[in-house]
Amino acid sequence: MPVITEIEDLKRLYKRRVPKMFYDYCESGSWSEQTFRENSSDFDEIYFRQRVAVDMANRSTKTTMLGEEVSMPVALAPVGMTGMQHWDGEIKAAKAAEKFGVPYCLSTMSICSIEDVAANTSRPFWLQVYTLTDDDYMQRLFDRAKEAKCSAAVITVDLQLLGQRHKDLKNGLSAPPKLTPKTLADLATRWSWGLGMLSTKRRQFGNIVGHVADVDDPSSLMAWTAEKFDQSLDWDRIRKFRDMWNGPLIIKGIMDPRDAQEAVNVGADAIIVSNHGGRQLDGALSSIRALGPVLEAVGDKVEVHLDSGVRSGQDVLKALAMGAQGVHIGRAYIYGLGAMGQAGVTKALEIIHKELDVSMALCGRRRVTDVDRDILLVPEGFS
Ligand code: FNR
Repeated sequence: MPVITEIEDLKRLYKRRVPKMFYDYCESGSWSEQTFRENSSDFDEIYFRQRVAVDMANRSTKTTMLGEEVSMPVALAPVGMTGMQHWDGEIKAAKAAEKFGVPYCLSTMSICSIEDVAANTSRPFWLQVYTLTDDDYMQRLFDRAKEAKCSAAVITVDLQLLGQRHKDLKNGLSAPPKLTPKTLADLATRWSWGLGMLSTKRRQFGNIVGHVADVDDPSSLMAWTAEKFDQSLDWDRIRKFRDMWNGPLIIKGIMDPRDAQEAVNVGADAIIVSNHGGRQLDGALSSIRALGPVLEAVGDKVEVHLDSGVRSGQDVLKALAMGAQGVHIGRAYIYGLGAMGQAGVTKALEIIHKELDVSMALCGRRRVTDVDRDILLVPEGFS
């Protein structure tokens, strides 16, 4: 077992342990991957101001996200097919988040169902829903989330159409994988992954199978969902979803201040500045560049969170200092999950926590709630 000290170590191990088609599914962006790359590289353009001889004892990264106490303001973002990265992946990620004291958000496109995760955890988790044309299905999802005591719903609004990822098409990605000579060769090289998958029965989309009358073949579920994405979505319809769910609501996938204002108008409690990790509009700004104008427009009306490109505690600190009240990580914890299961997600959280805590102190702040823009040197192009 290599010594793991940074998220990049988890990524290397993940690449060795998980079949190529699932590694590629995670580690890619749409088209030329410009936005995917810049989501991370833009963090490197922001610098910290180092401070010294400041009392750094008794530090704390504790705060709240949507009124929930968290050990640090970092949530696990919804990631479709997490259960194909590691057996029972959603349950394992949720358990790691619960032990660490941070929120876990379950994707609609999960392998394990809402009920599977609820039965294995006690901290309420968040449910992410896509905006589909089928109202009955949407209402059933919200009802199930309520039944499972989910503490928030996250509506993802940036996926009316799917951005194209070349690698997924070339790999013939599907879940469960179709057994062709090419995919068999890919799957057969990863023994521990394969044995794990054989040991679990949860290899179907638990939030969809059995709840939609015309879908009973798991391999057709991705196609079913893609067909149901609501291309005619508008803010009136999003308001309708708001009415279907009476708990805290987060709108995910906001990049423009005008859309942020619309989200406030429909009654969102929080928004996530996100470009879906560079998987949708290639050529869009990185999230960290988009954050400032959104904060200016609605920062005093709702909680503004950020995701996309975060790979370290230093990235988290920069986003918080720019004004985000919470940061969500996607790939950074999936690397850990694919590499080492639940222990890997915990490892990813520990790495990020330590980097956040120490960097915050070296900037002269003892509490995450005291972090502000004064700790940064921000170049032009970030407002
Ligand atoms: C995602 N993301 C995503 N978002 C969502 O709302 N529902 C989903 O089912 C998925 N599925 C998904 C799969 C994979 C493999 C990835 C990498 C991402 C987007 C996710 O919630 C988040 O916005 C990004 O992952 C953030 O970027 P980073 O942290 O991965 O760079």
